[in-house]
Amino acid sequence: MIRTTLIVTTVVGALAANAVHADAKRGQKLFDECAACHSTEPGAGNVGPDLHGVIGRKAGVLDNFRYSPALKKSGITWSRQTLDAYILDPQKAVPANRMPYGGMPEAKDRADLLDYVQQAFK
Ligand code: HEC
Repeated sequence: MIRTTLIVTTVVGALAANAVHADAKRGQKLFDECAACHSTEPGAGNVGPDLHGVIGRKAGVLDNFRYSPALKKSGITWSRQTLDAYILDPQKAVPANRMPYGGMPEAKDRADLLDYVQQAFK
């Protein structure tokens, strides 16, 4: 009986881990839309600011990037929620910010993308 419980727990655990992995993998593909401007190398300057450590960081604070006044003054701290709103519609979330990106309309896409961002840019 104890053995059966152990096996069931292990299988369920493995399935759950797989599901998370699959979503982040999908998110990595979706990040292609961002990668033109946001490098995955830490500290690398690009069209857009470095996203390493972005979750928990205040918006517009990196010294090596010239942000728009709008983003600097937004008062946003990046979390899953604030990032979700920004990626859905950058101009609506932060009017007059300078990220030239039209937005990602599907909630599932944004969730998978943010799973990847959370893992890859810790
Ligand atoms: C065409 C270039 C471009 C694309 C595509 C793009 N970004 Fe940006 N991103 C920028 C620029 C430029 C800024 C700075 C905006 C400002 O200063 O107003 C920015 C800012 C950001 C910030 C704020 C960072 C900080 O330090 O406050 C985040 C988060 C972000 N982008 C995430 C993304 C994600 C995720 C995607 C893909 C869904 C994406 N961006 C697509 C150019 C881009």
